[in-house]
Amino acid sequence: MTRHLITSALPYINGVKHLGNLVGSMLPSDLYARYLRARGEEVLLICATDEHGTPAELAARAAGQAVEDFCAEQHEVQKGLGDAFALSFDYFGRSSSQQNHELTQHFGNKLLENGFIEERVTKQVFSIDDDRFLPDRYVEGTCPHCGYDKARGDQCENCTRLLDPTDLVDPRSAISGSSNLEVRESKHLFLLQSKLADEIREWVNKHKDWPNLVSSIALKWLDEGLHDRGITRDLKWGVPVGREGMEDKVYYVWFDAPIEYIGATKEWADEDPDNRDWKSWWYEAEDVRYTEFMAKDNIPFHTVTFPGTQLGSREPWKMVDFIKGFNWLNYYGGKFSTSQQRGIFMSDAIEMLPADYWRYYLLANAPESSDSSFTWDGFSGTVNKDLADTLGNFVNRTLKFCNSKFGLALPEGGEYGEAEAKLAEDLAKRVAAYNTHMDELQIRKAMQELRAIWVMGNEYLTEAAPWTAFKTDPVAAAVSLRAAINLIRVFAILSAPVIPSAAKTLSDALGLDLNERSWLSDDMVAELSTLKAGHAFEIPDVLFSKISDDQVAEWEEKFGGKE
Ligand code: 2FM
Ligand code: ZN
Repeated sequence: MTRHLITSALPYINGVKHLGNLVGSMLPSDLYARYLRARGEEVLLICATDEHGTPAELAARAAGQAVEDFCAEQHEVQKGLGDAFALSFDYFGRSSSQQNHELTQHFGNKLLENGFIEERVTKQVFSIDDDRFLPDRYVEGTCPHCGYDKARGDQCENCTRLLDPTDLVDPRSAISGSSNLEVRESKHLFLLQSKLADEIREWVNKHKDWPNLVSSIALKWLDEGLHDRGITRDLKWGVPVGREGMEDKVYYVWFDAPIEYIGATKEWADEDPDNRDWKSWWYEAEDVRYTEFMAKDNIPFHTVTFPGTQLGSREPWKMVDFIKGFNWLNYYGGKFSTSQQRGIFMSDAIEMLPADYWRYYLLANAPESSDSSFTWDGFSGTVNKDLADTLGNFVNRTLKFCNSKFGLALPEGGEYGEAEAKLAEDLAKRVAAYNTHMDELQIRKAMQELRAIWVMGNEYLTEAAPWTAFKTDPVAAAVSLRAAINLIRVFAILSAPVIPSAAKTLSDALGLDLNERSWLSDDMVAELSTLKAGHAFEIPDVLFSKISDDQVAEWEEKFGGKE
């Protein structure tokens, strides 16, 4: 049987992540893992903080902390927020772990042994005013390709092309803004990607099922020609190269970060070595299907660079099978941005509303085929309409009405008829479509289907109108309430990967012990007959509260969400 390895792009350590980061990798990876577990699959979901590089060093400096302490603290913050958003990582590791150090050095050594790494003397940007070398990200300037004037030395955010700091026009230090820069010589390791280009292309070409966004970025990169890339930096914080003459150098953060997918799996296994094995997930792992989640700026590193590292090792490492890439989530005309503190950050969001509200909205509006925009009106509209009016209200009116006429148990009498047969038939079609969209990681379509399933419940109930029927034909009312309460169970199961906490509330109210492995069979008639007459239930508190206009106005004000 296939085992599913799933990784989310690793969030940088340099601060709390925003909703764009959440929807661009972590949340959909969790959705997929939860769905597959529910379908009975064996899943390992891995994430970690990406702790190296200048961003970490500089953020620590800004916080007045030693970089080790800063990272340890921020890791806990991010871990706590992941838990608050119910991200079900099997392990949330740290790229600064000993395990990752060892693996990164292992890959470096293998690439060297196999002739894919070479030492070169390079010219590096040195900032006289900052008295330090400026690695890529900390040189800013104008992109030579598209003219964007805030391009970073590693990559242009605007046209996604990879850059070298010395490519930039009018370069300046991102630390001090000083343009008092000079170029000094420094010895570095280079990954000879050009030697691996054909192999990488062949491997990319084998993956015909990748989303267009992913393969087009990969091929664009390959078509432009792979340049040999410097994979070491003049920094103290990072994985030491560990070679004579290179004592002051560490591997580049983008070299060690994807290796941490493996590193974190090893961290996970090392916590319980008698019961967990990392290697079978990563090495000669023919029975593993590996899926990665990431935003579009990460795609080149996962389709070209990291695969190059793996191929060049000449060892049988597990390579990714499917990459789910995302576009940007925008916030009132611009990208969510950590550096510009624009948008909504996970720590603020979770103080405002429970995780399920955000999870559903973000997944329903995931930037899959194009960028999408967060707006407060869109958010409140979705929450109020889909979660409060459609799902919440269905549950509430069903259980309350049942209690008022029959008490806190499924009512006796009568049998399912034509309406229920039709309900089962329609439900079977929709659930099959939902499963297919989830299998294919068509997230918006899956969410549309889930919403349509909730709507079906309301339509059934409106049609059956037990409140009217009760007056003349209480048996008919009892029948439709039994079906409706069974539908609540169905909703709890199908909604669990999306809104796990609300799903648990429903399952508890119905006295069920649904768990992460519960799912529906194909037999909807049976599913709608699972809870029998006499089965007790409770009425849960309001499942989702509506967001008021006043709240919207307050949040718009607070988070700068005005055009
Ligand atoms: O773009 C980012 O947020 C990176 N920290 C992602 C790294 S993904 C992986 F390669 F580690
Ligand atoms: Zn550009």
